[in-house]
Amino acid sequence: MSFIIGIRNFILGVLYKYILKPLIFLWEPEEAHSKLKVLGKILQSNFITRYITSILFGYGNKKLNITVDGVKYKNPVGLSAGFDKDGELGFIYPHISFGLAELGSFTGEYCAGNAGNRLWRLKKSRSILVWYGLNNRGAEKIAEELKDKKFKLPIGISAAKSNIETNFDLDVSIKDYMKTYNAFRDIGDYYTINISCPNTQDGEPFVDPKNMKALCDAINKDRVKDKPVYVKLAANLSRPEIKAIVTTCMANGIDGFVCSNLEKERDPAKNPDVKDPMPYHKGAMSGQPLQRRATEQIRYVYRLTQGKTTIIGVGGIFTAKDAYEKITSGASLLHMITAMIFDGPQTMSEINRGLVKLLKKDGFDNISQAVGSRNPLPPQEEWEKFYGKNEIEKKAVNN
Ligand SMILES: Cc1cc2nc3c(=O)[nH]c(=O)nc-3n(C[C@H](O)[C@H](O)[C@H](O)COP(=O)(O)O)c2cc1C
Repeated sequence: MSFIIGIRNFILGVLYKYILKPLIFLWEPEEAHSKLKVLGKILQSNFITRYITSILFGYGNKKLNITVDGVKYKNPVGLSAGFDKDGELGFIYPHISFGLAELGSFTGEYCAGNAGNRLWRLKKSRSILVWYGLNNRGAEKIAEELKDKKFKLPIGISAAKSNIETNFDLDVSIKDYMKTYNAFRDIGDYYTINISCPNTQDGEPFVDPKNMKALCDAINKDRVKDKPVYVKLAANLSRPEIKAIVTTCMANGIDGFVCSNLEKERDPAKNPDVKDPMPYHKGAMSGQPLQRRATEQIRYVYRLTQGKTTIIGVGGIFTAKDAYEKITSGASLLHMITAMIFDGPQTMSEINRGLVKLLKKDGFDNISQAVGSRNPLPPQEEWEKFYGKNEIEKKAVNN
């Protein structure tokens, strides 16, 4: 069966590369994004089109089943935040082999995002330069539409702070996050707190542990039972910054980290994966230019926390090998967008199929056994020498 699916995926990949992609790439990127979402809505609208989509793009294997923080996933390959900013396509994702989908980022208020052109394809770099600025219809409106919907895969709710003000105000910002958090109390299976959007007017103030602690306190006061909360880290944080934010989060009830958001280093001398001239002076990059740094961040967070926290790996996952590298570095789950755009919607099926092969090669029966398997943890004394004495403990919040 796997062989037949391999042939199917190969044919679909060739059709995408030589016919569909050249047509899609004729559209301006944001226009293409909108049109593909319309197609997704049509495909998810009825049983027949969902069934045909499954035949073309589906894949399943029990070896990929994984439970993370009490949530059961059919496979670890997820849609990353930013593709479905208004939470409109939750019914199609399981049919294109996603095991989870993170919707949003949603903000407390309606947010128009940044003005003008906001997306560019960096074809040689296999990347998208993103300057969206958190455009979405606002948490309460979207939550109202999604309430009572029964999704067939775990849904993540990505909460960000509205990109409206240029001056940062801690109380206002926390209230903004909490508006989304509370609007989605009964919707979705986990939350991601996005503190790392590189395209907002007031920067990334929650990288400061004091602000992060205040946000954690607000979340814990209103905590939704049995729903893990993850924090999405910026790609370009230094190790001391990562250490400060991760320790603060773990001491204050955060269940894990999404590593990572978009890459900001656009100088090819410092980031050899940047192979295109930059079409705009603002924005940050997905895909290949982020791949290495995101994996390094996963490896660091996994070792820093002695494997005690959940990591969702994201950034430049194009193949099963890329996905496996992030898993064996310490990620239990994965997110992706760019590969789907550059290589086609059969990519998730092909990555899952390849993961099963890689598991077999390494002698694992289940994907959970591979997590962190190529990132061995140092013995306690050495760990203390390298990371310092302070205790990195995941504190459970009474919920
Ligand atoms: C068009 C686009 C929009 C994005 N918007 C968001 C967002 O709203 N929130 C967020 O946390 N990340 C956002 N991201 C970042 C992705 O979630 C992800 O971290 C990044 O694209 C790396 O994954 P990839 O290389 O597989 O695309 C966006 C990425 C893209 C390409």
